Amino acid sequence: MHKPLTKIMHDFLRPHLNQEAIVIDATCGNGQDTVFLAEHTKEVFAFDIQKKALEQTKKTLAKTGLTNVRLIHDSHENIALYTVDAIEVIMFNLGYLPGGDKTITTMRESTLSALKVALELLKPSGLISLIIYPGHKEGLKETNAVLAWFKTLPKEKYEILSIEKYTDEKAPKGFLIQKKG
Ligand SMILES: C[S@@+](CC[C@H](N)C(=O)[O-])C[C@H]1O[C@@H](n2cnc3c(N)ncnc32)[C@H](O)[C@@H]1O
Repeated sequence: MHKPLTKIMHDFLRPHLNQEAIVIDATCGNGQDTVFLAEHTKEVFAFDIQKKALEQTKKTLAKTGLTNVRLIHDSHENIALYTVDAIEVIMFNLGYLPGGDKTITTMRESTLSALKVALELLKPSGLISLIIYPGHKEGLKETNAVLAWFKTLPKEKYEILSIEKYTDEKAPKGFLIQKKG
C-alpha cells in the first residue's frame, strides 16, 4: 500500500526490460530511474534540461559502476535528435528536481510534444511510463492536459493503464501507455 509510485512503476517495467533493450529516461533528475533502467538494459539515453540534474545522475551512476548511459543536456521534446527508433521503454517522471529549484518544472506544452515524439519512437509492444504530480500548480495543469490528450489516442493502437490513489486526488498518478502490436 505504501510502496512509492516510482518503485511500483519499476515493478511494472521490469518484465519488459532485457539486455538487448534500448530505453530512454526522459527526465533523469537525481538518477534513480536511470540506474534502474541501466541495470536491466543494453543502453539508456537520459535527458534533463538542468546541468545540476545531469551531474547528480552522473554521481548516482558512478556509485554503481554502470557505463551504459548517455547523458544528454536537452529537453525531452528533442529526444528523436539523439536516439534511435524501436525503443523498448521511455520513462517520464514529471515535475521538478527533488531537492532542487521547484520553479524549474516540466511544462504541459513541452511534455505533450515529448510524449507525441515518444509514441513514434516506441517499438510495437513498447511502453511509456509516466508519473505526474497534480499536487502542485503546474502539475495540475499538466495532469489535465495529459488526460485530455489520452482521450484523443486511438484505442485500437494504444492501451493505457492508470495507477492512482483513488482516495487522494492530489497524490501522484502513474500511467503506462503501451503501443499495441
Ligand atoms: C521528478 S524529477 C525526475 C526524477 C528522476 N527520474 C529520478 O529518478 O531521480 C523531474 C526532472 O525533469 C526535469 N525536466 C523539466 N523539464 C524538462 C524537459 N523539458 N526535458 C527534460 N527534463 C526536464 C527537471 O529538471 C527534473 O530534474
